[in-house]
Amino acid sequence: MRFLVTGALGQLGRVACEAVAARGWQAIATDVPEVPVDDFDALAAVFGREQPTHVLHCGAITNVDGCEADPDTANRVNGTGTAHVARLAEQHGAALVYVSTDFVFDGKGTRPYRPEDPPGPISAYGVSKLLGERAVLERGCAAFYVTRTAWVFGPGGKNFPRAILDRARSGQPLRVVDDQIGCPSMTRDLAEAMLDLITSGAPGGIYHMANEGSCSWHRFACQILQAAAIDVPVGTMSSAELGRPAPRPAYSVLDCSKLTAVRGKPLPHYEDALRRYLQEELS
Ligand SMILES: NC(=O)c1ccc[n+]([C@@H]2O[C@H](COP(=O)([O-])OP(=O)(O)OC[C@H]3O[C@@H](n4cnc5c(N)ncnc54)[C@H](OP(=O)(O)O)[C@@H]3O)[C@@H](O)[C@H]2O)c1
Repeated sequence: MRFLVTGALGQLGRVACEAVAARGWQAIATDVPEVPVDDFDALAAVFGREQPTHVLHCGAITNVDGCEADPDTANRVNGTGTAHVARLAEQHGAALVYVSTDFVFDGKGTRPYRPEDPPGPISAYGVSKLLGERAVLERGCAAFYVTRTAWVFGPGGKNFPRAILDRARSGQPLRVVDDQIGCPSMTRDLAEAMLDLITSGAPGGIYHMANEGSCSWHRFACQILQAAAIDVPVGTMSSAELGRPAPRPAYSVLDCSKLTAVRGKPLPHYEDALRRYLQEELS
């Protein structure tokens, strides 16, 4: 099997390529600048040359505040670029996983979001990722999967645990928002789940994909430092105090039971994932 991976230099794409190779399959790694997904001709050339049987579409503009400042670019890459990927995957008869986000929800929910719950993005990034979802789903292909994940971290990536560890070691005071609740999710576990799903023969559509458990960013920060044996106090702050340009959903816990039913098991708990991440990152 031949897996074309977009965003293969990113934290999820890179680990996805490793997971593909570990199963004895071929990974075709693509990313900017050679293969921007918003360049149809560049993408079509790779599809034509490599003839992938499967596509893991991880490439995206993921800077949430950057998207707020430049929604046109966000929509071109995350929306139109994803439409290009979906069109070419269909033309080549390839199965497709498109990695989407909990940020398609408005965060006003009071129970974990299910795949069929109505989206209502409150940020330009969320809008652009939802455009991508619609471009994938409107093709109506049997093996096209939209996997929404959240709060992604993994080895080598620019992510929240890395930022907390760096800040704690710098000796600067730490204050972390405690009014956003979500599901920290590790790239290695996400990659395995994506491969299980895309090779499962399960019906296409939307699947939520996150490690088990949920927490606030503040609680996650405390757990990161505790697991890394760094004794630094972590104060709290509100999202309003932090004042980031793009609004974030206050509550974006994902109900992953549909994916669990396909795989016969949930993703591991995020605390277990954090321990494995720190072992790998700190060793
Ligand atoms: N990170 C999270 O917390 C999170 C949460 C939910 C969902 N997701 C989704 O999960 C996927 C993977 O995220 P990640 O954390 O691995 O992000 P990442 O580390 O930022 O990786 C994304 C990769 O896509 C590349 N890219 C940017 N523009 C592109 C274009 N026009 N064509 C092709 N590739 C392009 C990026 O390159 P540059 O670095 O040069 O821009 C980067 O290498 C994304 O679809 C994201 O929306 C992420």
